Amino acid sequence: MLRYYTAGESHGKCLIAILEGIPAGLRLSKEEINKELARRQGAHLTGAYQGYAGRGERMKRIEKDKVEILAGIRKSVLTDRKGETIGSPICLMIKNKDWSIDNQPLRTRPRPGHADLAGILKYGREDISDILERASARETAARVALGAVAKKLLQEFAIKIVSFTEEIGGIRISEEFSSFQKFPLQKILSLSESSPVRTINKTKEKLMLEKIKEAEKKGDTLGGIFVVIVDGLPVGLGSYTQWDLRLDGCLAQGLMSIPGVKGVEIGAGFTLSKKLGSEVHDEIFYDVKKGFYRGTNNAGGLEGGITNGERIILRAVMKPISSLKKPLHSVDIKTKKATFAEIIRGDICVVPVAGIVAEAMVALEIAKAMKEKFAGDSLQEMKRNYLGYLSYLKR
Ligand SMILES: Cc1cc2nc3c(=O)[nH]c(=O)nc-3n(C[C@H](O)[C@H](O)[C@H](O)COP(=O)(O)O)c2cc1C
Repeated sequence: MLRYYTAGESHGKCLIAILEGIPAGLRLSKEEINKELARRQGAHLTGAYQGYAGRGERMKRIEKDKVEILAGIRKSVLTDRKGETIGSPICLMIKNKDWSIDNQPLRTRPRPGHADLAGILKYGREDISDILERASARETAARVALGAVAKKLLQEFAIKIVSFTEEIGGIRISEEFSSFQKFPLQKILSLSESSPVRTINKTKEKLMLEKIKEAEKKGDTLGGIFVVIVDGLPVGLGSYTQWDLRLDGCLAQGLMSIPGVKGVEIGAGFTLSKKLGSEVHDEIFYDVKKGFYRGTNNAGGLEGGITNGERIILRAVMKPISSLKKPLHSVDIKTKKATFAEIIRGDICVVPVAGIVAEAMVALEIAKAMKEKFAGDSLQEMKRNYLGYLSYLKR
């Protein structure tokens, strides 16, 4: 069993993240978690873009996140004081640099596209800040911290996760699904990590940057599509035996839970509607060294809700940011008079950041499926179970 929760508001004192079920004996330092938090902020980028293109000033100013490990990891003499999980729940804290939740102005003009209006009505509140403080995607920093732990566990089993931006505001890098699915992971990683929009095509990167500048000038915002790829998976994670055990469903929920994500595709996804069965199903081959394998991967690594040993390929669409400099029509919740929505300065386009958050969600869901299949209270026990399964598959 692996489960996780977060707590904390956008302008609250801190974000808290709890992760239960990580086996004992996983070496982990706070620097490794901070590295993922820095990726979320684009802190590794140099040159014209300090951080990702399309991010708001507040984010660039405050998001120099650092984690504090509060529980579940111990630096003992036995581990050279480097830190190792001990099997108990892991508790992480990220302090907010501009903690000011009690000094926020009263807000009564809900923004279309946000939880503002529905949240006010649902929770019986009078100040929209009560809603947006938690509904804000600031919370995703806590998920990235948890994802860093999950990724570390997956590394022990040579499972790797990468992501990149496929489209921003109609500028798309490839129409054809198949053009990048066999791309070496390292190439995707080096291209996306050096791009201010996290894309893998330099020509399209330029156009995406122009598109973001254009939207910014108009006081408008943009959305787009990102892709997540998981490599190195064993066959057999997830299950068809119950609806909530299907790994495709768990991954889709993980991605859909990212604020602003409005659609998820697995493998060839929505393009399947135009094709014949004979064109899309991935034919089965056998090789003494490789075992069973497929010539194509239109299924995106999942059949019957189970990993089939091929790469998992996921794609998600993010709607344009809802806070607009030129606000849309709204109604004041106090006076019920027509007005314009609150202007809350924020990001213009966050597709690159959403890709990093998505990596974290995917890592957590894959780690959950690995724990389900191989169990183990210690990493050693989990590895023994995993290796036993691999040798059974080779028979
Ligand atoms: C990393 C990240 C940063 C975001 N930043 C903002 C922002 O600055 N302003 C904003 O209005 N929405 C922002 N969003 C999107 C909103 O959180 C999202 O549109 C809102 O929660 C409603 O989305 P939903 O309908 O999917 O819940 C961001 C989303 C993510 C993933």
